Amino acid sequence: MDDAKIGANLASSEARFAGKVAVVTGAAGGFGRAIARRLAGEGAAVALADIDSAKGKRTTAQLAKRGATALFKTVDVSRGDDLRRLMERTCGAFGGIDILVNNAGYCHRAKPLWELPEADYDRIFEVNVKSVYLGAVHGVPRLLERGGGVIVNTASIGAVRPRPRLTAYNASKGAVVTLTRGLATELAPHGIRVNAVNPVAADTDFMKGPSGGRPLGEKGREILEATIPLGRLAEPDDVAAAVAYLASDDASFLTGVCLDVDGGRSIG
Ligand SMILES: NC(=O)c1ccc[n+]([C@@H]2O[C@H](COP(=O)([O-])OP(=O)(O)OC[C@H]3O[C@@H](n4cnc5c(N)ncnc54)[C@H](O)[C@@H]3O)[C@@H](O)[C@H]2O)c1
Repeated sequence: MDDAKIGANLASSEARFAGKVAVVTGAAGGFGRAIARRLAGEGAAVALADIDSAKGKRTTAQLAKRGATALFKTVDVSRGDDLRRLMERTCGAFGGIDILVNNAGYCHRAKPLWELPEADYDRIFEVNVKSVYLGAVHGVPRLLERGGGVIVNTASIGAVRPRPRLTAYNASKGAVVTLTRGLATELAPHGIRVNAVNPVAADTDFMKGPSGGRPLGEKGREILEATIPLGRLAEPDDVAAAVAYLASDDASFLTGVCLDVDGGRSIG
């Protein structure tokens, strides 16, 4: 390959999302922030959405300062009206939507399933599962307007390799896996691919859910690391790289895939 061609390939791979518009939920911090940063870094205009307005605005301002085309909308992903307004705002600002990343989610306090309050069970399914349905209701028509697109959902390796005391959470992510695969069959004829990532544990604010507010800490980290064959937790950038791949044309023949981003946890 001559030098000019190598240069051209580099340029195109650096801007896989030039001209594309992405919506990322749960984008104020953790995986969502890394995903938004990665998609924006590769050329996408990005709408960040989160229930945490202050943090979401800060994150979006940081991205914009680095040159990203980005907006922020306060959204509770369990509410249809919020998602409708998010899609309207994004289309108004950027002209349409090509990529929808349903990433927002959280974990209840770690407890045996039979001791988990019913309200906690219901809320987990509203935020982690209903949000994917509502994302489809309000997002698919927008993707269709562009002649196709991509949906990427953040599930969890817990969907396929559950740990004890997180059963409702893991079941909610199992539902995300099945929603992903089912929706992929429905949308393939319309030129919309639907995939998911299954991350292993990462030291984000998410960890305060199972512990009842405490950060992970050194001891907790060591316990988790010992269960992951590659010997470390996931980093937000690991997840962002996988989401960017699934959202890109590099994965144009992949749909219904739930990609384990897990350092081998599922086989360890
Ligand atoms: N961190 C982990 O160990 C881990 C592992 C596997 C999967 N996940 C999943 O990854 C996703 C991102 O988690 P994270 O680790 O980045 O955690 P995080 O807490 O850093 O980020 C989650 C974001 O979602 C937002 N959010 C929560 N409820 C919301 C709602 N109702 N509406 C809108 N936004 C809401 C939060 O404000 C937060 O900014 C979640 O779906 C989580 O279940 C996390």
